Amino acid sequence: MTGKEKLLAEELQGSPTVIDTKTGSKKLFLESYGCAMNFSDSEIVASILAENGYQTVDQIDDADLILVNTCSIRDKAEQTVRNRLNHFKGLKRKNQHLKVGVLGCMAERLKSQLLEEEKLVDLVVGPDAYRDIPKLLDEVEEGQKAVNVLLSREETYADINPVKLNTNGITAFISIMRGCDNMCTFCVVPFTRGRERSRDPKSIVEEARQLAEQGYKEVTLLGQNVDSYRWNITKKGEVINPDEEVVNFANLMEMVAQVSPDLRVRFSTSHPKDMTDEVLQVMAKYENICNYIHLPVQSGNSEVLKKMNRGYTREWYMDRIAAINKYIPDCAISTDIITGFCGETEEQHQETLSLMEQVKYDFAYMYKYSERPKTLAERKYEDDVPEEVKSRRLTEIVDLQMKHSLERNKKMVGKDYKILIEGVSKKNKDELFGRTSQNTVVVFPKKDAVPGTYVNVHVHDCTAATLKGELI
Ligand code: 5AD
Ligand code: SF4
Repeated sequence: MTGKEKLLAEELQGSPTVIDTKTGSKKLFLESYGCAMNFSDSEIVASILAENGYQTVDQIDDADLILVNTCSIRDKAEQTVRNRLNHFKGLKRKNQHLKVGVLGCMAERLKSQLLEEEKLVDLVVGPDAYRDIPKLLDEVEEGQKAVNVLLSREETYADINPVKLNTNGITAFISIMRGCDNMCTFCVVPFTRGRERSRDPKSIVEEARQLAEQGYKEVTLLGQNVDSYRWNITKKGEVINPDEEVVNFANLMEMVAQVSPDLRVRFSTSHPKDMTDEVLQVMAKYENICNYIHLPVQSGNSEVLKKMNRGYTREWYMDRIAAINKYIPDCAISTDIITGFCGETEEQHQETLSLMEQVKYDFAYMYKYSERPKTLAERKYEDDVPEEVKSRRLTEIVDLQMKHSLERNKKMVGKDYKILIEGVSKKNKDELFGRTSQNTVVVFPKKDAVPGTYVNVHVHDCTAATLKGELI
């Protein structure tokens, strides 16, 4: 037994605690926007409220309490939520007892505006204050407007057993850390989610073990920058408790991979400045760690990257891509790209396109730069790339990515892949869909196959987004 396995065997003797979200007397409708971290947080909120007599409902008209978990990453995300809140205001007029609350990233920024000026909501709770919701709801009952947007340096909700919402019973997220210390100049996250802190590895492995026991077949380890996960060691490398083991992200991933060979492990998001060869070596060692890395580049030009405070150059990024290809030759890579960042020239934009040509990403999330309040970019730089230039550059980036995604998928035609079946295809109920280790969606005729199992599929056709296949 290795040290880590021993530590787990000794300390993880608990059995799964099933939290009942369907029997409470009060009814909660929970709606989430934004990233996977937000959806994962909603599961923590549902768990806290289930312990306090709330059941989650699918129909908004049945609700006594509506909670909206919000996102601030781009202005568009905030506008979507605002429209929803206005809609809920109409529902409140019809039902005097209905309470509405805002959770998550918009809470801190818009608390007074939402509560006092626009009187849209009764409750505002930031990402580190979810334990306080039952108390705040009592205050609302007493006729007060309740708010807690304090950020914490410690809160990881490690002891809270998240209830799975809208689950397929097959794939699940596990939050391994919270907050972010990177201070990319465009990003609002350090302000909305606070300082970076890692969750106790024992509670992470235990959550993975419980999910495997309940029949889940895939977990995604979540953090703003998973590569800077660190337990029992300071940023400077000083061990905190000499009697306890030090765990970095590579160690953590290995511990989770050892829970069960039948449990796939994914993770998001990696950071090019922190992704080590050790992480890649662990990925190569375990068949159940999926061959897929989301490695946001943001820009292909080193000067722009410097202005974004990303902590790497184009050359450094390309070295990380080379390392991925060396250790995991069939690894799929995806990215995030921001176009039209402050002062971005045409030449710098061309460098983003040329980097895309060099890497040939399997997939990309592509955005126009959207200035966010409080960020360093807002304070230091001018958002000076005209909207129509941003749009044109984005179209060029999207078109190139479509071409690359199609090229990549075409290379998969004629080959066989092991996939985990996730469910019935939305377009055709006689077809199932699942994912390859590389995260590509494969659709195929159902036959006798059932969701939640692994099957081998022969791919015979594709689009830029999906592979089409037959069971072998
Ligand atoms: N404008 C546009 N895109 C942004 N992102 C983060 N902040 C902004 C912003 N202000 C994008 C980045 C990040 C992803 C989650 O969202 O590409 O990786
Ligand atoms: Fe997630 Fe960032 Fe949006 Fe918050 S602002 S929900 S952390 S993407």
